Amino acid sequence: MIKEENKNIIAIDGPAGAGKGTLTKKLCEYYGFAGLDTGSLYRAITLCLIEIGHDMEHLDEKFATETAQKLSDTHEILTYAKNPNIRSQLTNKYVANVAKIPELRAIMRKYQIDFALFPPNLPDGRKAKGAIIEGRDIGTVICPNAPIKFYITATAEARASRRLKEYLDRGESASYQEVLASIIKRDETDSHRASSPLKQADDAILINTSENNKEQTFEIAKKIIDERFKIILT
Ligand code: DC
Repeated sequence: MIKEENKNIIAIDGPAGAGKGTLTKKLCEYYGFAGLDTGSLYRAITLCLIEIGHDMEHLDEKFATETAQKLSDTHEILTYAKNPNIRSQLTNKYVANVAKIPELRAIMRKYQIDFALFPPNLPDGRKAKGAIIEGRDIGTVICPNAPIKFYITATAEARASRRLKEYLDRGESASYQEVLASIIKRDETDSHRASSPLKQADDAILINTSENNKEQTFEIAKKIIDERFKIILT
């Protein structure tokens, strides 16, 4: 039997720390959609490379790509993606270099498209009503035909403050200036790489979260989704 492809796809892109992850979780819970944090896939590969002792200062792109293929084939990528260390400062430092390898991105692309078209059931076993894919190139490359695309952003300063709080909450020590510098460096790498750079799709709706709390951002997005999906979701 041919499974029917899901068409209720929401693409969410934007730079690090803009609030994409929180928004995705809240929207998935509210609408009964399955969510994919695509950054966690690149982070999982990075963490695996760190754990096996690869020299991250001199990244071997061929080896990184082979590792990504293996992790993806064995589904081990999902286990790594659940490891809290994917959000450590060390992983943050190297993930953008891993994510810019074109062959490695091609492997991850297939996984993401499959998720969007055939979302898995929700954690409570219900069938997902749609999929929210969150990342950097979702509206531009992975799901260019998604009926709703958001580009979530905030000033580098607001994003650095949020990241600093995350580190301190995790018990890691960090300074605001260090975190800000790291965010600016990662924006630079993500936006200027040759393969699928971070870019707002022409038809994406821009939400600047610098002055918003989580609830306000959720309400803005919900209003737009309700209008666009009025027929589908009722
Ligand atoms: O969203 P995040 O901070 O977890 O992303 C981690 C890194 O992965 C970041 O450097 C950008 C990269 N990334 C990407 O290149 N493409 C995606 N779709 C998602 C993340």
